[in-house]
Amino acid sequence: MSQSAPIFAVILAAGKGTRMKSNRAKVLHTLCGVPMVNYVIEATRPLLPEGLFVVVGHQAGLVEAVLPQDAKPVLQEEQLGTGDAVRVALAALEGEEEGVLLVINGDGPLISDRTLGELVERHRSAGVGATVLVAELDDPSGLGRVVEEAGVVRIVEEREASESERANRLVNLGLYAFELPEIREAISGLSAENEQGELYLTDVLETIGRRSRAVTYRLKNPEEANLVNDRAQLARAEEILRRRILDAHMREGVTVRDPASTHIEASVQIGRDTVILPGSQLRGETRIGSDCVIGPSADLQDTLVGDGALVEHSVGRGAEVGNGASVGPYSFLRPGTVLEPGAKVGAYCEVKNTLVGRGSKVPHLSYVGDTEIGADANLGAGTITANFDGEAKHRTRIGDGAFTGVNTNLIAPVTVGEDAYTGAGSVISKDVPPGKLAVGAPARAIAESPQRRRKRAEHDEPARDGGLAR
Ligand code: UD1
Ligand code: CA
Repeated sequence: MSQSAPIFAVILAAGKGTRMKSNRAKVLHTLCGVPMVNYVIEATRPLLPEGLFVVVGHQAGLVEAVLPQDAKPVLQEEQLGTGDAVRVALAALEGEEEGVLLVINGDGPLISDRTLGELVERHRSAGVGATVLVAELDDPSGLGRVVEEAGVVRIVEEREASESERANRLVNLGLYAFELPEIREAISGLSAENEQGELYLTDVLETIGRRSRAVTYRLKNPEEANLVNDRAQLARAEEILRRRILDAHMREGVTVRDPASTHIEASVQIGRDTVILPGSQLRGETRIGSDCVIGPSADLQDTLVGDGALVEHSVGRGAEVGNGASVGPYSFLRPGTVLEPGAKVGAYCEVKNTLVGRGSKVPHLSYVGDTEIGADANLGAGTITANFDGEAKHRTRIGDGAFTGVNTNLIAPVTVGEDAYTGAGSVISKDVPPGKLAVGAPARAIAESPQRRRKRAEHDEPARDGGLAR
């Protein structure tokens, strides 16, 4: 058989995944932020398959939505078994006469491109009609048991296996290489005479074996045998992927102080000499520069962090933290927040849709929303923007070098000019011109306090000063 015969890959992803006990199709469950099916797809890439097909069925639309452009979805209307899924895929491959058909169950996210390559290699060099990936497991429960004899491979599903067959620990990992004409022929002869009333793909091996020999290929790296049928297995597989991601960052010069408590999704990038401290979680399109200290307990999603920045005990969602900027402890950067280089958002602040200019500081206990802060400004502790009037959001502008006293309330829309200064507790509802000091809205006693009124009513005392306290 020629080495150059094309490879077609079919990923089976139409099943519901009953044992997940989920409203979501099994292959959509994520590991380190990526849906299960996408790991399997990526593993086929280095083989340069001529065609990459994904059999979809249960929640087809949702599964199709996560597929890459070049993966062609093929609809299996009814989930009549793995054999039926391959039958549907073969219909999509009509006209292709020759080649290797790689069939991969969509629930083995740890399968590596290396293993796929070796399987195809083994298949080609043996010159057989079918090759199946197997492994000997300590706990084979739930999987099909494999018996190989003189060019024939027989797979018995656990539910149909006899006591002695169950004792066999050699299992089918749901990954096969077939000669295209052989699988076509064998699929058309499948019947659903089994416990499940399904078409079992595994039954084709015996047929093909008798016609043109079938062989097994033994998995080398046992980690890859972590198939996912339930949530405990999902967690086990994710743990392995999580460690792989951490190892890759560490090899590239990132210090991870406590790998056991650090969760970094596959898509995250981190520069060298950055230190990730315990309890941190980095997700989505988060990108972190070099020489940063992230954590402890940083929770960043889709957040960009420049070089030499610090993020301690804080949450970021769609925010940007510039070079040398610092955040935390205990602050929340919401979407649209941009900290320019050297800016600081300190303790217990919430910042939303706001630009904090170069070197400016929001050091303590503030809410700043829809605001533009110039360079080298300082917001006093407890400075709050009243950006929402109950109907619409309004913007606040704070000029370069401006200073707000503690507990300044900024009633938007409002501007505090360059080098302006607001007094402690001031309520700023009109623009403060550049270079001016604004104070005001001192509290006045206007009536008796409610608790005093209640106490008086309890003791049936008259109001002393007409209800007015001085
Ligand atoms: C299958 C194998 C079993 C093997 C195990 C490895 C068969 C009959 N049995 O069992 O020998 O040890 O995989 O994981 O194949 N799917 C479809 N359409 C369907 C049914 C399933 O696309 O009609 C997809 C599922 O989405 C899943 C894959 O095929 O990704 C495997 O299906 P699953 O039901 O998990 O098969 P197992 O019972 O685990
Ligand atoms: Ca399975």
